[in-house]
Amino acid sequence: MAQSKLLDYQNVSLKGTIQVPGDKSISHRSIMFGAIAKGKTTVSGFLLGEDCLSTIECFRKLGVEIDVDGTNVTINSTGIDAWEEPKEVLYTGNSGTTTRLMLGILAGTNLHTVMTGDASIGKRPMRRVADPLRLMGANISGRANGQFTPLAIQGTQLKAIDYSMPVASAQVKSAILFAGIRAEGTTTVRENEVSRDHTERMLKQFGGKLTVENGVITIDGGQQLNGTHVDVPGDISSAAFFLVAGAIVPNSEITLKNVGVNPTRSGILEVFEKMGAKMTVEVEDQHAAEPTATIKIRTSQLEATTIEGDIIPRLIDEIPILALLATQANGKTVIRNAEELKVKETDRIEAVVTELKKLGANIEATDDGMIIEGPTKLHGAHLNSYGDHRIGMMAAVAALITDSSIELDDAECIAVSYPTFFNDVSELI
Ligand code: S3P
Repeated sequence: MAQSKLLDYQNVSLKGTIQVPGDKSISHRSIMFGAIAKGKTTVSGFLLGEDCLSTIECFRKLGVEIDVDGTNVTINSTGIDAWEEPKEVLYTGNSGTTTRLMLGILAGTNLHTVMTGDASIGKRPMRRVADPLRLMGANISGRANGQFTPLAIQGTQLKAIDYSMPVASAQVKSAILFAGIRAEGTTTVRENEVSRDHTERMLKQFGGKLTVENGVITIDGGQQLNGTHVDVPGDISSAAFFLVAGAIVPNSEITLKNVGVNPTRSGILEVFEKMGAKMTVEVEDQHAAEPTATIKIRTSQLEATTIEGDIIPRLIDEIPILALLATQANGKTVIRNAEELKVKETDRIEAVVTELKKLGANIEATDDGMIIEGPTKLHGAHLNSYGDHRIGMMAAVAALITDSSIELDDAECIAVSYPTFFNDVSELI
């Protein structure tokens, strides 16, 4: 039984500079591409979160040599055709990205593999990936016709498809692109709304080719990738918790260094601008594979806003913490078109609304989002993380402004994406 953690931060202000850990999405992909490519890949700034460690363990079971030295990782691979058929089940833990992207990768090998994860993974929809892969000829079986783990994959020669994405999902898109690298012919993926493009960017770093034009991505099969160096920027989804903390905790001023500001991820910065946050964003290297910035945030008077439409995929993981932000903004904030939240690590609409209500927030769930009236003074309570790292961190940031302490169940789940989160909180107090 997970222990609860007492979050007792009365009358604090946050001051100082921190560097949030490496980007989770980019860290996963660095291992995946490094394992597929021939030769040596070095990664710096790697996220040592549990999700990314699950990805490393899966590839070790496939016989890929991976060495971890702090946040530096070295991958030595003789290429995807040299992987070994694993004797054990590949365990993907809590990681949807690992499970879904690996499905696309493994479908085009000549190996038989079985993947499973934790209780949360066991409830997350996998047919959104399995179905397009089956159109490419993949052999995938699992509970409810491949909807749920455990999943068994008998690798085979895949053929290209032309696929229009029914939901905005970088995981689905990436799984198809990974499969496309191995398929016969040219694979096309069509996106109505742009989702994070780390796979597209990183493929090019590894010497691969693809084209992207007006939401249409094409990739030729049979490409050989070669090892390279990947520099992982700080995760904007982790920085988001401190951006919100800096804006809502009285007398605060925080500097966040080396934050990844890829435009397909930085929707939160646009929302901050619209709400009137006292924030500056100084972009460091616009031309890097993944642009980075130093972001400064000060305590701010915020105005409510509407968050909807094509910005949603560009801030989907930030909605729990933006909901907390909205409880402190003046007026009615409406979040819509965010039904994808229901199939994250937990149902994040239900979890956010239930937990923020316990603190006294004026918040209601809708079918595809939530409505929040602010500002409200929040009080202490006993909260549940639902084993979801982002709900856990939302609760911890809330504790910085509640009038009494918060007791949080299963705070350890925060290590999924931000193992040093509480150290960084202490650093700023
Ligand atoms: C991710 C894509 C998003 C995001 C997840 C990471 C990725 O999921 O929520 O945290 O690394 O590709 P979806 O593809 O389901 O939207």
